[in-house]
Amino acid sequence: MDKFVNVALPKGRLGEKVYSMFEKAGYECPSIREPNRKLIFENPEAGVRYFWVKPSDVAIYVERGAADIGVAGKDILLEYEPDVFELLDLNVGKCRMAVAGPGDFRDDPGRTLIVATKFSNIASTYYNSLGRDIDIIHLNGSIEIAPILGLSDVIVDIVETGATLKENNLEVLENIVPISARLISNKASFRFKSDKIEEIAAGLAEVIKND
Ligand code: PRP
Repeated sequence: MDKFVNVALPKGRLGEKVYSMFEKAGYECPSIREPNRKLIFENPEAGVRYFWVKPSDVAIYVERGAADIGVAGKDILLEYEPDVFELLDLNVGKCRMAVAGPGDFRDDPGRTLIVATKFSNIASTYYNSLGRDIDIIHLNGSIEIAPILGLSDVIVDIVETGATLKENNLEVLENIVPISARLISNKASFRFKSDKIEEIAAGLAEVIKND
């Protein structure tokens, strides 16, 4: 068995923050901080190997066992429902999933609501729970533009600071769920590398507590 714990980290600002937490927990890998385009880094002494992957792909690596553990946003976990264990709320990458639209938007229950989103599963689950009929337009980014151009009535999207909505004259109409980054584990890895994975999770929990 691979003696390393393979960790998929989300490339980008959140990933840097998350790596700092691993570092503080004692799993540093100094070469990661050097300016280079490498995607894999390991520290044999600490027994960890890090990969930088696209944030929305972390759960795929972990579900399929290419990574033992990883850090993924709750938005991705809710949207794709990967078969993984969620071990810890890392308390970073905090934002919320919300319905947004023009401030004067009034929903007419007599007609199908048109919703643009990157999060089709979250949107349909939410509106199903309300018994509201919707049509989903699945987009891959710049969702805010959809209601402005009349492509949709509202959007379901991530709101962090609210700046994107504000600058496009949109407002939060309903909050769906709070989001933050989560430590996830492959199910088989959690059995076979449980000591090490639990040690890492405990170390991170300690870092969160002292923050
Ligand atoms: C996300 C989200 C919003 C924005 C919210 O987009 O889809 O557009 O961030 O952040 P704010 O409330 O702080 O303005 P992202 O940057 O991931 O790009 P995307 O539009 O291509 O999905």
